[in-house]
Amino acid sequence: MRKVEDYIRSIPDFPEPGIIFRDITTVMQDSDGFKLAIDSMEDTIKDLDFDVIAGLESRGFMFGTPIAYNMGKPFVPIRKKGKLPCETISEEYSLEYGTAEIEIHTDAIKKGQKVVIVDDLIATGGTVEAAIKLIERLGGEVVACVFLTELVDLKGRDVLEGYRVESIVKFD
Ligand code: PRP
Ligand code: ADE
Repeated sequence: MRKVEDYIRSIPDFPEPGIIFRDITTVMQDSDGFKLAIDSMEDTIKDLDFDVIAGLESRGFMFGTPIAYNMGKPFVPIRKKGKLPCETISEEYSLEYGTAEIEIHTDAIKKGQKVVIVDDLIATGGTVEAAIKLIERLGGEVVACVFLTELVDLKGRDVLEGYRVESIVKFD
């Protein structure tokens, strides 16, 4: 039986020399791979008490929305700057390659709500750290961060000290 990692394709030198890109499109384009990925991620939070799933644009939407739908929870998108139409707050952050800024609608999380963050991958942890800041600025409590893939050598977990972090496939 195939494991989740068997469905992930690795592309050397994308988007720039020295980066091994962990491509999750090959997980989703196989119905067995997609189901296994979603079921595995869901399993890590099935016993948690939480109110909302927040997904990080764009690959986090591909995993966050089916998990939210299956678990009967609302889904909140955290988007790249300039995409959300209503009042937002934003945070800047650094990536394995480059910098970026993400935003959330100010009414998307209510004070005291328990939030699970979902993304496809954690590398340096910069994106999820910025997402946590946004959620906490709105009064939300982050109860877990769930990733399909973790690039262990980039030590993203270190910036999430004190938070529950779950990942299904770990790469060096
Ligand atoms: C990728 C990935 C994570 C983030 C991880 O997203 O989907 O969100 O980088 O990197 P970090 O842990 O170093 O912050 P990207 O910004 O490339 O956007 P995309 O999902 O739209 O491709
Ligand atoms: N996001 C940041 N680093 C990445 C990598 N190596 N593969 C896929 N997505 C990424």
